Amino acid sequence: MCGIVGYVGHRNVVDVIFKGLTNLEYRGYDSAGMALLDQNEIKVFKSLGKLINLKNVLSESSAQLTAPTSGIGHIRWATHGSPSLENAHPHTCTCGKLAVVHNGIIENYKELREELIKKGCKFRSQTDTETIAHLVAHEYENAKDLEIAVRNAVKKLQGAYAICVMHQNVPDVIIGARKNAPMLVGVGEGENFIASDTPAIIEYTKKTIYLDDNEIAVVTKNSIKITDIHGAVINKKVETLPWEPVALSKLGYKHFMLKEIHEQPDIIRNILNGKIYDIDSPVVLNEVKIDKDTLKKLNKIQIIACGTSLHAAMVGKYLIEDFAGISVDVEPSSEYIYRKTTTDSSTLVIGVSQSGETADTITAIKQAKEKNSHVLIITNRPDSYMARLADSLIPVNAGIEVSVAATKSYIAQLISFYLLALHLGEIKGTLSGDFLKNIKHELIQLPTKIEEILSNASSIKECARIFSSFKNFIYIARGINLATAYEGALKLKEISYINATGYPAGELKHGPIAMLDETMPVLSILIPGGITYDKILSNSEEAKARNAKLIALTSSDDENLKALFDVVLKIPHVCEILSPAICCVPLQLLAYYIAEFLGKDVDQPRNLAKSVTVE
Ligand code: AGP
Repeated sequence: MCGIVGYVGHRNVVDVIFKGLTNLEYRGYDSAGMALLDQNEIKVFKSLGKLINLKNVLSESSAQLTAPTSGIGHIRWATHGSPSLENAHPHTCTCGKLAVVHNGIIENYKELREELIKKGCKFRSQTDTETIAHLVAHEYENAKDLEIAVRNAVKKLQGAYAICVMHQNVPDVIIGARKNAPMLVGVGEGENFIASDTPAIIEYTKKTIYLDDNEIAVVTKNSIKITDIHGAVINKKVETLPWEPVALSKLGYKHFMLKEIHEQPDIIRNILNGKIYDIDSPVVLNEVKIDKDTLKKLNKIQIIACGTSLHAAMVGKYLIEDFAGISVDVEPSSEYIYRKTTTDSSTLVIGVSQSGETADTITAIKQAKEKNSHVLIITNRPDSYMARLADSLIPVNAGIEVSVAATKSYIAQLISFYLLALHLGEIKGTLSGDFLKNIKHELIQLPTKIEEILSNASSIKECARIFSSFKNFIYIARGINLATAYEGALKLKEISYINATGYPAGELKHGPIAMLDETMPVLSILIPGGITYDKILSNSEEAKARNAKLIALTSSDDENLKALFDVVLKIPHVCEILSPAICCVPLQLLAYYIAEFLGKDVDQPRNLAKSVTVE
């Protein structure tokens, strides 16, 4: 949610910041802007909407620029104030000599704004961020030192912030500070960077220093000084990023989402490699840092997550209860944080997050830590703040995910839950040897089965063509695939803006059946051999009797299904317990192709952002 890039160094400043923002654009695309130090003067350029518009503004204004030597840039996902040019970052102080970009929310901005107006500051936007510009400028007037001014200003801020500041009187110095929002320093040679996330700098350096809360980084092209809120210098570890710039390329696919869907078989192979050596050996999950005796006695788990990660958590609950017999609660992070929970030191709390940045989940995790629970984080970003809060960390290793709609990170979370549930079951001795062998064998077969779906996607594309004109959908399932129905419907909502709802099949008759007619297709997830097949078939019949168009997603070979369903989407044979890892793929493709037919912006759907860093 929003993205920050700051640069000082020998390269073309506009190009570096623009490239960095391009690699962060999946985080927000309401507006973009840059402040550049050029000929001892701060020059600000802004545009509305996608980043490409900023490029046009910059080329139209090229006559105003000679050779900028440092700068800061931002892409915005609007929180305070509409997406407008005045509200776009960077924001400047009254005299325009100081510029700031900001991610997060300043909760006490109204009080600060009133005080600053009384002191003569002229505000031009509705944002909370502009308050920071005036506040730092005001502190600078007193302290005559930008570092001290930033330190004094952030002490007055309440809420969440990652900020990057520059002042024309302090040339080629960029200052970053953070609290409850990610920020890092990219370490180069004769150049340095400040950014809100690693994709912004990966083209130029893999060396990174992660700032912690209340730290301030003063960065020039040849120096990096990091201090705490009191000004004491801190020696921080320089870490090396684990991935290559190629991860940010579409590799010939039309969209990142399609590329990421196709990466899923290899992602599963990578995760299983090193965790399941052979079907006769226990799962190796050294990441879980709780001793075996404690694990054996464990009788309560709480899983907290948001969105797609929440759906993975729902599958996780089913698996852990089934394999290990431990009771599991799953809750949206945003609900967990506003109630009195029963979390205590004997509860294992699992946080699930693709980004590791989701504010709701971070707050929930912090609350659980305060209750002395062991916190296990399942995330795709082992470099994230959430990961650093973990007592145990399972990195899902899906690689950077650019499309705003999560796909490959979901399947990676699911596989991590299969491994965790098996691990817990093996420790507790709740699973038979034959079951363990079979399930491990079947897990290893998953990538090949998904490849089969991906190479026969034409039937899904045809289904998307037929159904792309419908305005409403219901996805029904029971048991472990209820989460699949929720996730399939969420994918469709996110990228096509169609009203799609996941619903427990048995609940249809308790209300939603009233909505059914020929305008409301029902998609049923039917896995034969399991305990839910016949019941969902009956629920589908009930929908047919109300003239609903029916789609089946099934591994059944039953030819009679063609008489009941308008479209039958076939998937390879799979046991019910593993079917969520197969069924999610055609539903991702269905959502993708419907959005494609409708001409939607698949990778950057309206109103969304990849990391949701506000509560
Ligand atoms: C997924 O397609 C969504 N973009 C969204 O629901 C996402 O899963 C949610 O915001 C949680 O994000 P996280 O996994 O990074 O915590």
